[in-house]
Amino acid sequence: MEIEIKTIIDRIEELYECGLQDDGSHTRMAFSQADQKGRDKFIGYFKELGIEPGVDEAGNIIARMEGEDSGLPAIAIGSHLDTVPDGGKYDGVLGCMAGLAICEAFIKNGVKPRHSIEVIVFTDEEGFRFGSGLFGSSAICGKDLGISESDPDIYGETRKAVMKPYGISLEKIYKAKRKADSLHCFLELHIEQGARLYKSQMPIGVVTSIAGVSRVEVQVAGEANHSGSTAMPDRRDALAAAADFIGKLPELVNQYGNEFTVATVGSIRVEPNSVNVIPGSCTFSLEIRDQDEQLIRLLEERSKSSIEETCGKNGCTCRFKNLSYHRPGPMTGWVAGGIERAVKRRGLPYLKMPSGAFHDSIVMAEVFPTGMIFVPSINGISHSRHEFTEAEDIKRGLNVLLEAVKEMDNINLS
Ligand code: HGY
Ligand code: MN
Ligand code: MN
Repeated sequence: MEIEIKTIIDRIEELYECGLQDDGSHTRMAFSQADQKGRDKFIGYFKELGIEPGVDEAGNIIARMEGEDSGLPAIAIGSHLDTVPDGGKYDGVLGCMAGLAICEAFIKNGVKPRHSIEVIVFTDEEGFRFGSGLFGSSAICGKDLGISESDPDIYGETRKAVMKPYGISLEKIYKAKRKADSLHCFLELHIEQGARLYKSQMPIGVVTSIAGVSRVEVQVAGEANHSGSTAMPDRRDALAAAADFIGKLPELVNQYGNEFTVATVGSIRVEPNSVNVIPGSCTFSLEIRDQDEQLIRLLEERSKSSIEETCGKNGCTCRFKNLSYHRPGPMTGWVAGGIERAVKRRGLPYLKMPSGAFHDSIVMAEVFPTGMIFVPSINGISHSRHEFTEAEDIKRGLNVLLEAVKEMDNINLS
């Protein structure tokens, strides 16, 4: 059984076009019309295969292909279809298309695995609009995200308003929770989004664990005042205080972190945002990621002290609001082992590697046996329109996934 690569590439292009914006960029932001368009297209591909996908209370699309023994827990394959602004073609989409392609390969070859296969498209993995993602996978795992319907997104819309067209209400989301024994395992094929595979010219990565991520919103309060008539020593410039800390952040990571530690201020807002007014307030995001939970906590603490210090120096005060936290997620040993055997069977070299980006697998691994396969990202670029993965690499990844599904299908757990 081989996978037909051309159809997959064509579909990846079709999904990308669903995100076309007026300015020529492509974005399928979660809970947007473009996202819905992409989801509908994906559902359509399954319908062509004779499978009618369902949508759960968290908006996750679930397409099920029955196996020989429908009493066995299903092998789940999936990822997300939502994107970051002006994102690429492959992040998330590849894992969803891969699930579809595996079902297609079984059906077209008239072969049935013992376990049923469920392809899951998780809702709002990226989470840039509300500052916290992994929405759908958290719901499936029954994890409390600490979110509320009144949360505003970066455009001022509430969760309640944007979820309405998707038929989601947080009150009913608990119904999306799946029992731990309902899935045999979960597999996610994803682009690496970094440059390790690309630099080492390795076609496949077998993921060992996913970095944990802490996201905090920092609100710095100073005093808005006239930019021409307020002498420098008399100012309480909120942006200067924030900038002072942001400039120190790389040093903090250097001091306490390791090769996998990263910290980012990716979003910033200044009030009143005028050329002739000293910024009275500055709100920015602080994201810290590492494979070690204690290190994340230490860096959070050191960053907060450093912000307090720079605020003090600039006559400002600060407040912190936790946006989200996900602890590092080790992949399940027997699933990763099965993936390794699958790669070897395809005769491919591979790297065992941690993931710096997070994925729905970080949450799924808390409840279900989970494993991830990476394929290379050219120049390590992702979350960008320049994200690219060669068709040959996609083909290798899909064949490894297919092999891994067969491997999982042969494993009896009880
Ligand atoms: O932000 C992340 O790591 C992921 O791409 N959502
Ligand atoms: Mn992704
Ligand atoms: Mn992403």
